[in-house]
Amino acid sequence: TRPLKVALLGCGVVGSEVARIMTTHADDLAARIGAPVELAGVAVRRPSKVREGIDRELVTTDAKGLVSRGDIDVVVEVIGGIEPARTLITTAFENGASVVSANKALLAEDGATLYAAAEKHGRDLYFEAAVAGAIPLIRPLRESLAGDKVNRVLGIVNGTTNFILDKMDTSGAGYSEALDEATALGYAEADPTADVEGFDAAAKAAILAGISFHTRVRLDDVYREGMTEVTAADFASARRMGCTIKLLAICERAADGRSVTARVHPAMIPLSHPLASVRGAYNAVFVEAEAAGRLMFYGPGAGGAPTASAVLGDLVAVCRNKLAEATGPGESAYTQLPVSPMGEV
Ligand code: NDP
Ligand code: HSE
Repeated sequence: TRPLKVALLGCGVVGSEVARIMTTHADDLAARIGAPVELAGVAVRRPSKVREGIDRELVTTDAKGLVSRGDIDVVVEVIGGIEPARTLITTAFENGASVVSANKALLAEDGATLYAAAEKHGRDLYFEAAVAGAIPLIRPLRESLAGDKVNRVLGIVNGTTNFILDKMDTSGAGYSEALDEATALGYAEADPTADVEGFDAAAKAAILAGISFHTRVRLDDVYREGMTEVTAADFASARRMGCTIKLLAICERAADGRSVTARVHPAMIPLSHPLASVRGAYNAVFVEAEAAGRLMFYGPGAGGAPTASAVLGDLVAVCRNKLAEATGPGESAYTQLPVSPMGEV
């Protein structure tokens, strides 16, 4: 069988781990997919940077040229941001590739354009890594729960802010010191404002609400409050009440089914609640579905290797689809429900 060609866009915290696992697990991946996968090119901004394990001849600054080649089977987009990522993804579809992306900011800002391009060209768009790092959550919502009715999705979906809040609570660390540590560990976004001001969690809430309630939800639809105002005094007050403070994303379907809500804000959590014991950059998400009942998803929510695990899972799925000349689930939006950021109160 001919090798499937993969173009990697971005080789930073996540991309470098994707490339490493593709190389070290090459035989296992080939066995699981039914064909070898070959890294055909790696697009970056700074070509002269030393990148361990990456053949220099594969490195290019011409990402557009790479995705336009016509012989690429799968494009893995781990650049981040809106542009050039959006144009590169749509160009990849136009040129016959399927796409795996970790880009929650883009999916929440303009997922409709990406879904439309994927559908028009009969290609896959997979994005398990965009929400909650390594935790399988997108596929369960899009596929395993597709026959059920999800009414509520609630939890901790940003590793950086959970890491900072946890440090502030348990070791009395200062906000800036904890943020620097989260950045050094590869948890924070290129601009950590996205994490601490709640934009990253809001983007994830938009994605989760969209796929859970089968409607379109964009970043602007989500009520957002970050955690920069949370102080040591707030933690002390919370402790006196037997609580801690977490940044939560909450997505709900209205009881009458006619609207949905999505919001992100810090919240007091009783110490006895499972979310209170989510430490470091871990995430935890509760999903409430009519028939399934209450499900909990838990695990590493950020970082290079955990996120690469989710990307690689998508890569295997998309490659299998390609060989079967099939595609996976497309956009699940079949109706446009009004989105009210704060619910019906
Ligand atoms: P990094 O900043 O570490 O890496 C970004 C990569 O993209 C770098 O290799 C950079 O090149 C490259 N790049 C940037 N702009 C361009 C461009 N215009 N053309 C070509 N290459 C470009 O980011 P991360 O790896 O942390 O994140 C990547 C994506 O994954 C983002 O969408 C992020 O939100 C998402 N994500 C990140 C997680 C994490 O824990 N870090 C977890 C889940 C998702 P160069 O190396 O030359 O600078
Ligand atoms: N910056 C994000 C976080 C990366 O801290 O959760 C994972 O999406």
